[in-house]
Amino acid sequence: MPVLHGLDSRQKQQAFLRDFWQQQALLLPAALRDFDDPLDANDLAGLATMEDACSRIVYGPDFTVEHGPFTDDRLLGLPDSHSTLLVQAVEDFVPELLELRDAFSFIPAWRFEDIMVSFATPGGSVGPHYDHYDVFLIQGVGCRRWKIGQQCDQKTAVRQVDGQQLINQFSQQQEYTLSQGDILYLPPGLAHWGIADEASLTYSVGFRAPSYREFIGEWAYQAEQQLSEWQRFQCSPGTYQAHSGGGVKSIISEQDIARISHELSQLCSDHQLLADTLGLLQTELPEQRQPPAVNFRPDWQWFEENQALISGLRRSTSARLCYACVGGLHTVYCNGEKRQLPGVDPDWVDILCESKFVQNSQLREHCENPAERQCHSNRELLRLVIANGAWEIEEHEL
Ligand code: SIN
Ligand code: CO
Repeated sequence: MPVLHGLDSRQKQQAFLRDFWQQQALLLPAALRDFDDPLDANDLAGLATMEDACSRIVYGPDFTVEHGPFTDDRLLGLPDSHSTLLVQAVEDFVPELLELRDAFSFIPAWRFEDIMVSFATPGGSVGPHYDHYDVFLIQGVGCRRWKIGQQCDQKTAVRQVDGQQLINQFSQQQEYTLSQGDILYLPPGLAHWGIADEASLTYSVGFRAPSYREFIGEWAYQAEQQLSEWQRFQCSPGTYQAHSGGGVKSIISEQDIARISHELSQLCSDHQLLADTLGLLQTELPEQRQPPAVNFRPDWQWFEENQALISGLRRSTSARLCYACVGGLHTVYCNGEKRQLPGVDPDWVDILCESKFVQNSQLREHCENPAERQCHSNRELLRLVIANGAWEIEEHEL
């Protein structure tokens, strides 16, 4: 795992999380000493021709955008200045890039979004903007200048340019020139504007948080799933008072409102529902990053019969996994699906949520002989992660 100079001790990481994370920019000069780019501009161009990679080109004084996939001719025809080629989720194609994410292991993995790589020719820029994500900009080969602007909010005036939002009035506060191995951390909403001084590669390690708009949508859907038609609004006894000589007014009374508030506040304080909402939102994979459908869903008997063939399990680079433990009950969220696992071994949950490879011996240790209840849930978890394409069985090489 790469060591980040400047964030290389627990104390420094704590101080970063307390004073900078989601609050203010931080330059980490030479954070990755001896950083060697895991890919070059040609590799990136190769990815930009692929159907399942999400790529775009931004060029010229107006930051014109074109979306991929691109033909070789289009890429070769790009001007040799004032253009940027960007590819999202490059770790799906170049798994070594996940090492960069691992450098930030003091941030929970369920916040991780992806690693975007950009190649800019001199003068290349995507324009002044802000992101809703926390991002660590890791400078690869070449130099790029980053202007840092104001903290933006919903009132910041922006203009739409080919689907991307550019800030109308960028108010520069700082400027840093990054060279290979430097890292610049930017919190969400902070205006920034990167301009390549020379041909350069930048790796953006992004971390996401759901908006409350998204959250409420998912929460309402999950709550709906657990409510029945029988659970209905009921007014408190005595709310409707018939008046002498007439009916009641068609008014939604304070008592009616208080009753709804009481019922909904119970749902709002349902921690399992809140954990499920967050876990499902954060582990859902975008359409373009869905793993191929898994048709082979082996049960434990298959593992037992094929012991000799299996070297272990390998995690897919796009897999999204996390868990919650509410009232002692573990729920695992895996690529947008949840499973409650009573009695599961917490170590097994940790292994499948955190690691990249599981040895066959670890697999057996957790799924072969533990007590019945634990064994059932451990195997159930194994089935879930394989069925969802998050982990794959790796066989010995012949
Ligand atoms: C870039 O890599 O040039 C753009 C990244 C960003 O500003 O978010
Ligand atoms: Co940005």
